[in-house]
Amino acid sequence: MAEDLTLIKEGTKEEKYQSLIPQITGLLYGEKNLIANLANISAALKEGMGFFWVGFYLVDSEDELVLGPFQGPVACTRIKKGRGVCGSSWQKEQTLIVPNVDEFPGHIACASASKSEIVIPVRKDGKTIGVLDVDSDLLNDFDDIDRTYLQQILELLP
Ligand code: SME
Repeated sequence: MAEDLTLIKEGTKEEKYQSLIPQITGLLYGEKNLIANLANISAALKEGMGFFWVGFYLVDSEDELVLGPFQGPVACTRIKKGRGVCGSSWQKEQTLIVPNVDEFPGHIACASASKSEIVIPVRKDGKTIGVLDVDSDLLNDFDDIDRTYLQQILELLP
């Protein structure tokens, strides 16, 4: 497929996700390399949804995540299990939606512009291999629509 995304500039969040999903399916088609696929998912979400920061932290040892493919400003490299939103989502194996990062105990501020955040565990073969982290520079920018569609996008990984 062509390596250009067709982007919806006007439209609801749902319409943007719905237009991206078949395009991400196409980008991942026939490719098994995890890093390549995570890199393209990050780029598609950054460009298609206009998020401030999108990326992955990957399990590097039993108690630490390491920065993976991402799009946006530079970010902290390592996060301990249970620390920050990412480490907490990994430890609890749960999606976390944080409407105001300043009110999340232990939030790790990689960029002061980040105001709200959603973190979703990435599972492969029944194991959590990392998390998808999306940051917004707006307060309260994530809800169940993001949870549903981001989860659906992660399920596209082969
Ligand atoms: N805020 C995250 C750290 C990663 S950056 O936002 C890219 C956290 O608290 O885990």
